[in-house]
Order: sequence, then structure tokens, then C-alpha cells
Amino acid sequence: MAEVILALDLPGGTEALRLLDRLSGVRWVKVGSIIMTREGPVFIRTLIERGLHVFLDLKWHDIPSTVAGAVAAARDFGVGMATLHTLGGLAMMEAAATAAGDTLSLVGVTVLTSHDAKSYSQALGRGTVNVAEEVKRQARTATAAGLAGVVCSPSEVSLVRSVLGEGGRIVVPGIRRGSDARDDQARVASAKDAVGDGATHLVVGRPVLQAADPAVVFQEFLEEARCAAS
Ligand code: C5P
Repeated sequence: MAEVILALDLPGGTEALRLLDRLSGVRWVKVGSIIMTREGPVFIRTLIERGLHVFLDLKWHDIPSTVAGAVAAARDFGVGMATLHTLGGLAMMEAAATAAGDTLSLVGVTVLTSHDAKSYSQALGRGTVNVAEEVKRQARTATAAGLAGVVCSPSEVSLVRSVLGEGGRIVVPGIRRGSDARDDQARVASAKDAVGDGATHLVVGRPVLQAADPAVVFQEFLEEARCAAS
């Protein structure tokens, strides 16, 4: 069954822990750069002590030795999964994969969901880029480097699954129920469709965080992911 990861995109640790106290069935939480910068790694320890799996989403992109050092620190802290940019290149990803060992799964961020073909082509400065082909290319490099999988938008899941084969993690943000606002996500999908296409981990933030009753909405996502798998 696919895991549902709750994105702790809240102003601080106090709010995040208060929310977690209200929810049941949470196994994975995503710690991003905002809450990490505010609260520091002690917050990760608090989450792990509560029995949660931590997905550290800091999207590393630096020289190989620096990324490897950060990965080793996350591994030592007990982080279960973490992100790095596949555009950091093969050597960076290989160094990171070596540092991750057996307990930390690394997933490569391909093309950010905030990019479209125009903005991505401008960022790379090499003519018009086919985003889908680029995602495929980066997923192949991530696999060759020994990463556990990739992060991609809902619309690229089946494409990435064809590159990764049966194994490999596909982490997908932008998960919504039919009645949810898209917010600033250009590409969204239901939990059912994402899992059907081959996603293994679904990241959900605002639909739960901004709900009148977050516990009820989180249960609905869990249920949909469970049904999709059966
Ligand atoms: O609130 P929402 O459900 O849109 O949250 C999605 C989460 O996934 C956010 O924490 C966002 O930063 C993250 N994310 C994303 N797109 C990516 C990578 C991460 O939306 N490509």
C-alpha cells in the first residue's frame, strides 16, 4: 500500500505537534526547509521519538562532499527519507547514495512542479526543453546513481514508473480530493489515480492542514490510498 506523508508546512513546531496530537494513523511526516530552519534538527528527534518516520525535504544540490556530509548527518539522526536535486549530477548523487547507507532512502527531485517548459528552458539556457523527456532523463540518472527513487508531479508518475521498473520509490506531491482547492499546484491528482499510475508515497499538505477537521480529512486520504492498492 502507498504511504501517505503529511507535509508539516506550518509556522512552527508547536503548531505541528498540536496538529499531530489531533490525528491518528500518521506514519510519515515531511519536514521542509521552513520548519527545519525555524526549529532545527531537535524537532526531527521529537518526531522520531513519537514513532514517526521523517521525510526530510531539503532538496540538497551542492558539491558531492558537502551533500554526502549532510546525508550522513540526516542518516545519523534517524531520518527515513530525504531529497536532493537530480540536477546536482551523477557524482553528487553517487556520493550521497554511498553516505545514505541502508537506513536512509534518497529520492531525487526531477523538474520542480513550479516550472513549466518556458521557465525551465530559461533556467537551463539551452533552447526549448521537453519537460517530460527531461524528467525521464533525470530519473534514469538517479537510478544509475543508486538513489531509491524520485519525486515527480502526478502527471509524470506513469512515465517515471516506466523508467524505474517495478522497484523504486515514486514520491508525489499535489494530491487532492475532487472537492479540494488546487492551491498553487499546477498538476494535481487523486490518491487513487497517483497510486494507480505507480506512486509509492503521496505527499499531502494543505487539504489536511487547512481543513476544519484535519483528522477526518487525513482519514479520507488514508482510506483512498488503501482502496487504490487493493
Ligand atoms: O499543500 P500541498 O499538498 O500542495 O503540499 C505539497 C508539499 O509538497 C509541499 O510541502 C511542497 O513544498 C511539496 N512539494 C511540491 N512539489 C514538489 C516538491 C515538493 O509541492 N515538486
